[in-house]
Order: sequence, then C-alpha cells, then structure tokens
Amino acid sequence: MNDVRFDGQVAIVTGAGAGLGRSHALGLAARGATIVVNDLGGSVDGSGTGSAAAQAVVAEIEAMGGTAMANGADVSDEAQVRAMVDAVIDAYGRIDILVNNAGILRDKTFAKMTMADFQTVVDVHLIGSANCTHAVWPHMVEQGYGRILFTTSASGLYGNFGQSNYGAAKSAMLGLMNVLSIEGAKFNIRANMLAPSAATRMTEGLLSADVLALMQPETITPGVLALVSADAPSKMILGAGAGCFAEVQVRETAGVALADDQMTPEAVLAAMDQIRDPEGATPVEHAFAQTRKFARMAAAARGLPLPWND
Ligand code: NAI
Repeated sequence: MNDVRFDGQVAIVTGAGAGLGRSHALGLAARGATIVVNDLGGSVDGSGTGSAAAQAVVAEIEAMGGTAMANGADVSDEAQVRAMVDAVIDAYGRIDILVNNAGILRDKTFAKMTMADFQTVVDVHLIGSANCTHAVWPHMVEQGYGRILFTTSASGLYGNFGQSNYGAAKSAMLGLMNVLSIEGAKFNIRANMLAPSAATRMTEGLLSADVLALMQPETITPGVLALVSADAPSKMILGAGAGCFAEVQVRETAGVALADDQMTPEAVLAAMDQIRDPEGATPVEHAFAQTRKFARMAAAARGLPLPWND
C-alpha cells in the first residue's frame, strides 16, 4: 500500500477550529495538503462568533511547515460559503478535498423543541454541508477529481433521545452523500460519510474520564484521511472511535412477493418474520435497483416473463 499523501492538494475542513475538525486539518496538513481552516468560532449551540480558534489552528499548521488560511464563513450562509470558495480558488487555484464537519447541538425532546431550533440545526449540518459541497462541486468536476466527506452521527443512523433536529439533519446527509457518490462517479468525485464518536466539547460531561481518554479526535482522523485519499472508496459510511473502525451498511432483506389475493395489511403482518429475515439481505446499488428487484420478484411469483432487461 502506497503512503497516503496530499502534496499539491487543497482541502477545506469546516468547523476546523476545534475538536474533530482541528484534528482532521492537522492530519491532512501533516501529509502535505494546503488547508482552509473554516470556523465560525461560536459555542456548542451555535451562538457567538470569533476568529481566534481558526487562526490558532492555522498557526499550528504553519509551525509544522505547512500552508493554511483561516476562514470565518458560516456554513449555513450560502453567500459566505461562495465567498470562501472564491477566495480559496483565488489563493490556491483548486480544491481537492472538502471535509464537511462543522456542527452544533440544540438538544431537547421533540415535545419541547421549537421549530426555530429544529431549523437552525438542520441549517448548519444539512444545508451547511450542501452549501459547501455545491460551491466546490464545479471546481471538482472541472478538475476531474474530488473527495467529499460528510460527518453524520450515530444519532442520525440509530437515533438518540432528545436529538430529533440533529438526528434528522445527520441522516438527511446520508441521502445527499448517496446521490452525490452516484452523480460524481464519472468525474472521479467520491463521497463518503463518517460517523464519529469522540471526546470533544460536544461530548464533554456525557462520558466518564477513562472513556474520554480513549476517544481522542486523533484516533478518528486516520479514517478521514483514508476516505479523502486518492484510493478512497465511495458511498461508504465509516463508523469511527477510539481507533476502532467499522462500516455502517444499509441493506435490504430478500423480502416476499405477495399474491394478488394477499394484498392486505393482515398478509403483510403475517409475513413480517420473512420480510425482516436478515438472511440474504444485500445492499441496493441505487433506487431503480429496488424497483427492478420488486418487479422481477412479482413477475416470478406470477409465472410472468421477467419485465426488466439490463
Ligand atoms: P466541536 O464543537 O468541538 O466542533 C465543531 C466546530 O464547528 C466548532 O469549532 C464550531 O465553531 C464550528 N461551527 C459550528 N457551526 C458552524 C458554522 N455554522 N459554520 C462554521 N463553523 C461552525 O464538535 P466536534 O465534536 O468536533 O464535532 C465535529 C462534527 O462531528 C460535528 O458535525 C458533530 O455533529 C460531529 N459528531 C461528533 C461526535 C462526537 O462524538 N464528538 C459524534 C457524532 C458526530
């Protein structure tokens, strides 16, 4: 396996003034990338702004001999993001890597959640990632190269009490990543997702000190570097924490084909064990692959010719 290097490449890391983003920025810089350290510099709930955090990370990168610029764009503001990307192109002429990492929390049970807090969290995570990705996309298409990482969360993939806004935003990013990995393939643009679990200010107080000691952001960054490298896969969801890595997979069970006289909710409930049987579950390549599967199953169950040629 070749060494993973990013010499000559330019990477934007959003929310890179602290926590995971800072670690990813330092990790990319250590292997040769020029870094755009984006950070709004607010608090965990997204209030306030400040440039000190991003500038401190730029200073760390420069101290190790790297090249970096600080940028204070709010990722949820499309105009600010476009201005950031224009400034990067003016300064460096290209953007090879985008790590969508910026994020905030506004936890409340759904009953107590205001729609304003729901919207703000969706705006930062989902719309922020879409803004950044949309702004870099034409440059990556033109270069015929791009690596994009989205930061999801176990909260979005599996659910977590009190995080309806965050969970919704984080899982919606999965839909974006799936489509972009398909649309980007012919331009050598690969899109992947990280589901991290780390000791940062976001998780302070939630875990005991001995667990937090294992979960440092630096234990996750190697997975990020792999997912934005030249040899990266595409459409992968990588779970990462404490130096452990696992793939989160979306699969569909083989399922059942009900007969014409069984199209009832009672028949669906009666078949539930078979519908949910994980034996033979497979990933589905794209949306129409599911349509094809069901059309073929239904035709086979009725003794009809298979209706799909490919
Ligand atoms: P953090 O709070 O240390 O870092 C987030 C950074 O994003 C902060 O520096 C903040 O100023 C910046 N930011 C927030 N809103 C911004 C905006 N609108 N524009 C630009 N920058 C903005 O938190 P952490 O833990 O490093 O989180 C990084 C990412 O990882 C987030 O997307 C988070 O949701 C995700 N994540 C973290 C987990 C963990 O265990 N720490 C678990 C699952 C996901």
